[in-house]
Amino acid sequence: MMYLVGLALIFLIVSVIFLRVYISSGTKCSLDRRLDGKVIIITGGNSGIGKAAALELAKRGARVIIGCRNKVKAEAAVTLIRRRTGSDAVHYLPLDLASLESVKQFVDMFIKQYGPAYALVNNAGYMGPKQMSHDRYDLCFQVNYLGHYYLTQLLIQKSKPDKSSPLRVINVVSDSYVNSLVDFDDIMIERNSYQVFDAYGRTKLALIWFSNELNYRYWDSAVTSVPIHPDSMLPPFAGLLEVQSVQTSYTIGQGLSGRVLRLMAKLFFRSPETGAQSIVHSALVGSLEDYIGKLVYDCKPIRLAAVAKDHRKAERLWDISWDMCPLEDLKMKIH
Ligand SMILES: NC(=O)c1ccc[n+]([C@@H]2O[C@H](COP(=O)([O-])OP(=O)(O)OC[C@H]3O[C@@H](n4cnc5c(N)ncnc54)[C@H](OP(=O)(O)O)[C@@H]3O)[C@@H](O)[C@H]2O)c1
Repeated sequence: MMYLVGLALIFLIVSVIFLRVYISSGTKCSLDRRLDGKVIIITGGNSGIGKAAALELAKRGARVIIGCRNKVKAEAAVTLIRRRTGSDAVHYLPLDLASLESVKQFVDMFIKQYGPAYALVNNAGYMGPKQMSHDRYDLCFQVNYLGHYYLTQLLIQKSKPDKSSPLRVINVVSDSYVNSLVDFDDIMIERNSYQVFDAYGRTKLALIWFSNELNYRYWDSAVTSVPIHPDSMLPPFAGLLEVQSVQTSYTIGQGLSGRVLRLMAKLFFRSPETGAQSIVHSALVGSLEDYIGKLVYDCKPIRLAAVAKDHRKAERLWDISWDMCPLEDLKMKIH
């Protein structure tokens, strides 16, 4: 009997180790290129994958500007990244993607203080119950997609990247795009019932279309864009797992259940550092040519599902998004 219990125990331990190695492993970016002096914007760089990417990129010499809505959390992240990397070229600018006015102020401040960017990482995200943004749009749609669309468009129009000083736009998406659709007759999900995962997935599909359209419209390589999938962590937003001194509506409880969940996540799911590797890779790789029209996963370009390659829908969403943002005065709608 003891013999059987021992065997079962060994089997259990081996299975746990196997699961740990298999599930939580991921490719580490192996490129040793440096980005000294290159300016990189990361939205939502105060927690989770965005913070991990900011740290890695700062280590490699980049000037990292994190765009965040919470000053206290942003300053805490800047202090931590500076301390861990020894770089003082890490800064924060206020950015609330739920407000188009805030996005505009962010871009104005950024251009004034830092000039053109080398890369923009559209990382911030929201998934949750239906809410309205400041602009009366669906919050998930605006934070994940429209706010980033507007930010990118403004940055392009105001910093005018060209072949000699190009901009790379790295959109953080999710494989949930595969089963998603955008209902053009109900963009704000007012008629259909609001399903949290569907509402989230379609914003990631929209971001992939946006990447593809940027590459299509800036065929002269002034702007190149890739979507990256960081793989799944538990829960869907990595920052929830951080033990934070600043309590936000998102942070998982500090009690026993929170501790157990964090331990489980540490054991069996990817860390934000692993999730950030494809962002780091996309920023470091010499040319994105081989990655265009693909999804970056585990630092490699992989095929996109057919739904992501629908150019007509991507074009339609670009136009609708343009009209939803105060972009008209720039008179630079590119076709
Ligand atoms: N974790 C996963 O399993 C997973 C899988 C696939 C894709 N992703 C994607 O990876 C990205 C990062 O996720 P994460 O896991 O690192 O989650 P996270 O730690 O919760 O980070 C989300 C970030 O977005 C910011 N944010 C939310 N609403 C914002 C707003 N209105 N304006 C500006 N910033 C806002 C948050 O700021 P606050 O701290 O102020 O809330 C936070 O910095 C997201 O786009 C997510 O969809 C994650």
